[in-house]
Amino acid sequence: LPDLDNGTGLHLYYYCEKYHKKGVSMSQLTVSNRPALPHYPPEPPSHPVWGSFRDFQADPLGHMGALVRQYGPAVRIRFVFNWYGYILVHPDHNKHILQDNNKNYTKQAPSLLVTKPLLGNGLVTSDGDFWRRQRRLIQPAFHRQRIAGFGATMTTAAETMIQRWQGAAERGETLDIDKEMMRLTLEVAGKTLFSMDLTGEAEQVGQAITFASRYIAEASIKPFAVYTINWPTPGGLRLRRAISLLDRVVQKIVDTRRRDNRDEGDLLSMLLQARDEETGAGMDDRQVRDEVMTLLLAGHETTSNTLTWTLYLLSQHPEIAERLRTEVDQVLAGRTPTIEDLAHLPYTRMVIEEAMRLYPPAYVIARLGVEPDVVGGYDIPAQAIITMSPYLTHRLPEFWPQPEKFDPERFTPDKVAERPRYAYIPFGGGPRQCIGNVFALTEAQLVLALIMQRARLSLAPGYQAELEQMITLRPRHGLPMRVTLRG
Ligand code: HEM
Repeated sequence: LPDLDNGTGLHLYYYCEKYHKKGVSMSQLTVSNRPALPHYPPEPPSHPVWGSFRDFQADPLGHMGALVRQYGPAVRIRFVFNWYGYILVHPDHNKHILQDNNKNYTKQAPSLLVTKPLLGNGLVTSDGDFWRRQRRLIQPAFHRQRIAGFGATMTTAAETMIQRWQGAAERGETLDIDKEMMRLTLEVAGKTLFSMDLTGEAEQVGQAITFASRYIAEASIKPFAVYTINWPTPGGLRLRRAISLLDRVVQKIVDTRRRDNRDEGDLLSMLLQARDEETGAGMDDRQVRDEVMTLLLAGHETTSNTLTWTLYLLSQHPEIAERLRTEVDQVLAGRTPTIEDLAHLPYTRMVIEEAMRLYPPAYVIARLGVEPDVVGGYDIPAQAIITMSPYLTHRLPEFWPQPEKFDPERFTPDKVAERPRYAYIPFGGGPRQCIGNVFALTEAQLVLALIMQRARLSLAPGYQAELEQMITLRPRHGLPMRVTLRG
């Protein structure tokens, strides 16, 4: 039985028993007539009752990373009791799940279900025909030309931010760059989405978003959080208050916009005007609310983290920062960057891409497998909880030599063409690929170019970056930096 590779002793015993009862002698038994046993990915030992949930919960990425290094890119882990999860991080696995057999994999995984109180049935969490219809409706809002119209909003917000840094620069104070980026991208999201500044008068909104996303992120790695997220605990009650505040704000904006019937040229106007090609129907208020909340949440923290980590990495690699500054100075010659400049700033883009390789804001991508499937030669049963991880895929040495090294040269067109497409998935892939990827890259490139042009940032002495695994990947203690403005 040469292909019996895992748990051999137990399997042999099982065969002998089974065939002995049927009256088949061992000599008649061949590989071809034995029933196939599931060939699961390797499974590390775990506590008989508690499984490995505690290790997983304490540090999901650290735990999964250690397993992948020890067992390879496919691992089966027992979370708790007989509840299993499948970690699949090879590019072929990503391609199979996100692209080739994507219909078998839904968003009904527990870590996504806990986001439902906030995101409802928006684009990130919905499935099937409903999702397809919504994606078709919303896609035009993310057309390149539409996003080009947001360029000035992005650069104006960034210029105002850099002007605001002047006081701290003169006093030699440190600034929390993580907070600055979060504020900036929230401002851009608020203005492009519904022409509103969420950072000033509506500061409460910003706080509610931050609390709700933090609370949900913490819940998403707790066992049974799907059931407990709505319990009236102090945190649960605060979550309800935060969500109802956001609901009220969004509803008010939608009501006003519907009443005035104005086209502000923002994403909300697009959502309200969107009509299904086949049925001609628009979205009801509940759906508009879910989509607005989804875009606000999916759109600002991710881009903010991309910028924060990029600035952190540049502070650690002055030679790369210098090369970037040279590109920006030569191409822009002191001008504010525009969308047209982006094609002439390739190194800026490579730096951002490499930062997203090392610190992909969406560091895990979860799915629930509907039917049994075979992925990378392994059996995956029905209803399996699947965890893919851009963070771990982006560190597989087979595709990324010296994976921990920050090296934007990995993103020259030649190098990109040599790698499998699914070795790099900061925006996911297949039909559920991020709808906002062009928006995000445009914003990140414009803001980074402006910062390099106008300021120099250096890390506060003694600061050690530490990962915080919330809904997105953030630096745990913010990013304290000293700023000097350039002449
Ligand atoms: C650097 C910034 C961003 C990163 C790293 C990022 C990452 C991702 C990833 C990995 C997915 C796929 C999730 C999955 O397959 O389960 C996704 C989906 C999505 N993203 Fe982004 N995203 C970013 C920016 C944005 C922006 C700016 C917006 C909107 C303004 C946005 C809106 C969405 C939406 C609506 C989806 C769901 C798409 C669907 O399932 O049809 N994202 N994003």
